[in-house]
Amino acid sequence: MKTTFPENFWWGCAESAAQTEGEADTSASITNWQHWYQQQPERFFNQHGPQHTRNSYSCYKQDVKRMRDIGLNSFRTSISWARLLPDGKNADPKAIDYYRSFFNELKNSGIEPVVTLMHFDMPYLMQQKGGWTNRAVVNDFADYAARCFELFSNEVKHWITFNEPIVPLEGGYLYDFHYPNQRDFRMAAQAAFFTQLAHAKAVNAYRASGQKGKIGIVLNLTPSYPRSINQADKKAAHIADLLFNRSFLDPSLKGHYPFELITLLKKYRQLPEYTAEDLREIATATIDMLGVNYYHPRRVQAKIHAIHPQAPFMPEWFFDNYEMPGCRMNPYRGWEIYPQGLYDILTNLRDHYGNIPCFISENGMGVENEERFIRKGIVEDDYRIEFMQDHLRGISQAISEGSACFGYHCWTFTDNWSWLNAYKNRYGLYRFDLSDGSISPKRSAYWYQDVIKKNGF
Ligand code: BG6
Repeated sequence: MKTTFPENFWWGCAESAAQTEGEADTSASITNWQHWYQQQPERFFNQHGPQHTRNSYSCYKQDVKRMRDIGLNSFRTSISWARLLPDGKNADPKAIDYYRSFFNELKNSGIEPVVTLMHFDMPYLMQQKGGWTNRAVVNDFADYAARCFELFSNEVKHWITFNEPIVPLEGGYLYDFHYPNQRDFRMAAQAAFFTQLAHAKAVNAYRASGQKGKIGIVLNLTPSYPRSINQADKKAAHIADLLFNRSFLDPSLKGHYPFELITLLKKYRQLPEYTAEDLREIATATIDMLGVNYYHPRRVQAKIHAIHPQAPFMPEWFFDNYEMPGCRMNPYRGWEIYPQGLYDILTNLRDHYGNIPCFISENGMGVENEERFIRKGIVEDDYRIEFMQDHLRGISQAISEGSACFGYHCWTFTDNWSWLNAYKNRYGLYRFDLSDGSISPKRSAYWYQDVIKKNGF
């Protein structure tokens, strides 16, 4: 059966500054990632750090040409805060030129630039101030956002404030996979609240600028499925949903936090500090569009063991993760593959979040040792094609049932440096050869080109 999409559907890819640009010749200050790598290089897969990125700073023109060849009509990347404002205040003219010329190159090729302000990399000087746990950084971010809106008003009509804002908080304050490697729920909650406030200030600054483009946020939504219909399992899934999805989804889309989440955090004395003015700022920051990153679902069950009363407070006080027997897995990343999850997310947004216009801003499959699949110089990544097809079917079905989903961006265009995993798992439509820096299309690039041409498959 044919899978089709509406006219003017966004077909694109996503990437981010820190994962691709490289340490180019601007006077960028160092980021939290560069700092962390200097301290603990052994924590990065094969000790490949942020300096091993592909250097798209120098080759973006060739990249854009390849995107045009495939037929992309939209593309998301991010601005590096540390590159644009090396001292936190003054914009570097070279960085301004670079971003302007990159965005113009995209536009002139018929590719709509979608630009993220914050995709995991924070200037280290902001981190030294306490990062998202410090209110002063919220104001610094709002200033940075306002500078971007002013500097790139001609080039950019689609802005994203944050990419997956929950991830740096989970990694930095709960599970130790982002700097500053703390384990303190209260700090995570404070950082989450200030991140939401920073998002709201950026949205409100955009409105105040009078520009007529669109602004939104990208959230990684992981639907929580209970192991069974048992009440205890269902409650466990409900709390996981409150903590990991609705903690950003509700304030971003409804302007306020779920009452049950506030009650829960209050009970365990984990509520962040906030003012009435902060809540007003969040309530008034209405977004135009939502980006949904989806890779895998979350399955949970009621806790099996009691909690050690002196152990640090963690989300896992309320549920255990559950691995469903026989589920389809991506063994390289350890993530379940469940395309139905994407359909469920879109249906939930339609039914409970005013059917906000949204696009799938990341979806893809990271696989290790892809050289195994090279035949006649091409990575035959049929598993990736199948993964994307299955997810696209879910999207198409949701759209036919009324979802306001208007686009799909796969992660990612070219294999890139992926934080702690560095180059372990490859996600690209193009293969990046680390030994000589060359890139070449995989089978999925040709497949995607065909899908775009036919607006379906
Ligand atoms: C998303 C991020 O969470 O997942 C990307 O927005 C990241 O920046 C991608 O690269 C894949 O993640 P990982 O951890 O599998 O490399």
